[in-house]
Amino acid sequence: MNKKTVKDLDVKGKKVIVRVDFNVPLSKENREEIADDSRIKAALPTIDYLLENAGKVILISHLGRPKGEANPEFSLKPVAAYLEEIYKDKFHFLASDEVVDNKVVEGVDQLKEGELALLENTRFVAGETKNDPEFAKKLANLADLYVNDAFGTSHRAHASNVGLANNLPSAVGFLIEKEISIMGKALEEPYHPFVSILGGAKVSDKIGVIENLIGKVDTILIGGGMAYTFLKAQGKEIGKSLLEGDKMGLSLELLEKAKENNVEIILPLDVVIASEIKSGVETKMVDIDHIPEDMEALDIGEKTAEVFASKIKEAKTVVWNGPMGVFEIKEFSNGTNKVAKALAESDAVTIVGGGDSALAIEKAGLKDKITHVSTGGGASLEFLEGKDLPGIKAIEEK
Ligand code: 3PG
Repeated sequence: MNKKTVKDLDVKGKKVIVRVDFNVPLSKENREEIADDSRIKAALPTIDYLLENAGKVILISHLGRPKGEANPEFSLKPVAAYLEEIYKDKFHFLASDEVVDNKVVEGVDQLKEGELALLENTRFVAGETKNDPEFAKKLANLADLYVNDAFGTSHRAHASNVGLANNLPSAVGFLIEKEISIMGKALEEPYHPFVSILGGAKVSDKIGVIENLIGKVDTILIGGGMAYTFLKAQGKEIGKSLLEGDKMGLSLELLEKAKENNVEIILPLDVVIASEIKSGVETKMVDIDHIPEDMEALDIGEKTAEVFASKIKEAKTVVWNGPMGVFEIKEFSNGTNKVAKALAESDAVTIVGGGDSALAIEKAGLKDKITHVSTGGGASLEFLEGKDLPGIKAIEEK
C-alpha cells in the first residue's frame, strides 16, 4: 500500500479529525451497553499514537442507520462512556444533533495537546451518506489534518471519509494499514495451498468474490444458504432450502470457470435439515441426495464439516467469509463452529472477514488463534472482490 499513514504526518499541536468505525453492536436488552467492543479496541493504536505525539484528536463515526435524522437510539453515548473510562478527563463528548454546531466548534478549539473529543453520529446529518460537500467542509473546518482508520466503512463514499479527504491533508491509520497489508498479501502473494471458505445466505452476495478468487485459490469450500442454489443448478432436490432461482445459470458458469482454472469447488455432501428455522426444532442429518420436499437444509452435515476441516488442515492460506448455516441457533451451529475450530487449529495464515464469521469466531473464543479477523463486513467482502475501496482510494499517496 502506497498511502500516507499517520507516521507521515506531523501532528504536534495539530487538530486531527479521525474517522473511526465505532458502528458497534449494542446489547438488545440495554442499548447503553456495547455487545462487542472489537471495533473500538482496533482503533485505539491510532488514537493513542496521535495523543502520544501531542495531537488534538477529534473522533467521528456513524452508528447504525439513523437515516439523516438525530435519533437518541443511535447516539454514540455508549461509546463515549467507554472512551471516558479509558481516557478520563482527557476525553470530551461534544454531542450535537447537528454533529457540528457553534458549541462543538468551541469545544474543539479548547482541546489541549494530547486530548480527544468524540462528536455525535455523523449519520444524524443527511449530507453524510450523500457525501455532501457542505457537510464535508463543516467537518473539515474543525481540523488541520484528516486520518481515516474506519476500515469497516471504507467501501462507502461518504462525507466523513471521501469528503474529508478531499478537503484536508490525509493519511490512513494503523488499522486500515494492517487490514490492507494482511489481506492484500494473502490475496496477491498467498502461500499454497490456498483455501477459501464461503458461506452466508446468498450467492448474489458472493459472485464477485468467487470470480476474483478463481485464479488465486486452489480450493473453494461452499456452505451456508448460498450452497443450495449451486446444488439445485446441478439437478439436486433441495426441498425448501434457500434458492436464488435466477442465479442458477450463473452458478453453473462459476463451476465451469473454476474447473477451467483447476480450482476445486466442494459443495455440501450432507446437511442438517428441519421443517423450520427455530430453536428446539427436530433436526435430521441426511446425504445431499436425500433432502425431502418439505424440509429445509440449515447447516452442513458432519461428513461435509470433516472434509472442510481436512482441507483447512492441509492449507497454508485460508480466507473465510460467511457462516455454514444458521449458526445463531444452536441446532444449526455445528458446521460453522467446526470450521472456526479448524481455522484456529491450523498453522496457515488464517483470515476471517465478514460480520457473521467474525462473530462466530468471537463467540467460540478463538479470536486470538486467527492471524487476522477483519473489522470489516461489507468492506472486507468488497476487498476480496478485488474492488477499490473509495474511503482508502481518496487518501493521499506517499
Ligand atoms: C459495517 O458495519 O459494515 C460498517 O460500519 C458500515 O455500515 P453500513 O453498512 O451501515 O454502511
